Amino acid sequence: MSVREEFDSWAAEGRDRGMEDRHWHTAKHALARMPVEAGDTVVDLGCGSGYALRALRETAEIGRGYGLDGAPEMARNAADYTEDSAIGFLVGDFGELPFADGSVDHVFSMEAFYYARDPIHTLEEIRRVLRPGGTFYCAVNYYEENEASHSWQENIAIEMTRLDRGEYREAFREAGFHVAEQDTIADREIEIPPAEAFPTDNWETRDAMVDRYRTWGTLLTVGVAP
Ligand SMILES: C[S@@+](CC[C@H](N)C(=O)[O-])C[C@H]1O[C@@H](n2cnc3c(N)ncnc32)[C@H](O)[C@@H]1O
Repeated sequence: MSVREEFDSWAAEGRDRGMEDRHWHTAKHALARMPVEAGDTVVDLGCGSGYALRALRETAEIGRGYGLDGAPEMARNAADYTEDSAIGFLVGDFGELPFADGSVDHVFSMEAFYYARDPIHTLEEIRRVLRPGGTFYCAVNYYEENEASHSWQENIAIEMTRLDRGEYREAFREAGFHVAEQDTIADREIEIPPAEAFPTDNWETRDAMVDRYRTWGTLLTVGVAP
């Protein structure tokens, strides 16, 4: 199945907004750490509903935002939700970014990078489009240490690459980035029911849910282009 087939149906079912609601708990902290300045050009890879660029326009007054997504319906929904001519949404693939060398100040991606068919090549593409000193803020919930995420591949027809923290740093370096920071951002907002409520539809034990959200949350790896 293609990215388009998988994620167009998510967009049509309104799951883009559902992801935004869930991912925002930790994505907002990653966005707040980005060294963006007024007037900067920022790209969001796998933008879904496009919330990240709308937020950066408000908080940091970025000059231009480009959201790229492989699913046309995601890009169309994102454009429909955005009343701002400084933000545009494009259909494209992580393997070939439609931006000139050194033309982008910062790149953000939430919960999408692991769908890249060739992660090192995608990182090289990101490095190519970034100006020297530009950053890539790569946030993922699907990663090795986050054990609850391991089963997610069973429900998604696109191949996902599950790396651990060290492998993320190695991949960034192999693609020519400096690794400036790596951290896990806990989700402190999702409600975790009391012990007597378990098992729930999704969780066998409360400990597993605490581990997923409060212990691990989102893995953020930050690369700086030389
Ligand atoms: C799990 S969603 C995350 C969306 C959004 N970043 C968020 O936080 O809600 C992953 C998104 O990445 C897009 N995507 C997956 N693989 C892609 C690829 N190879 N090229 C471009 N977009 C891709 C999907 O269409 C989908 O919208």
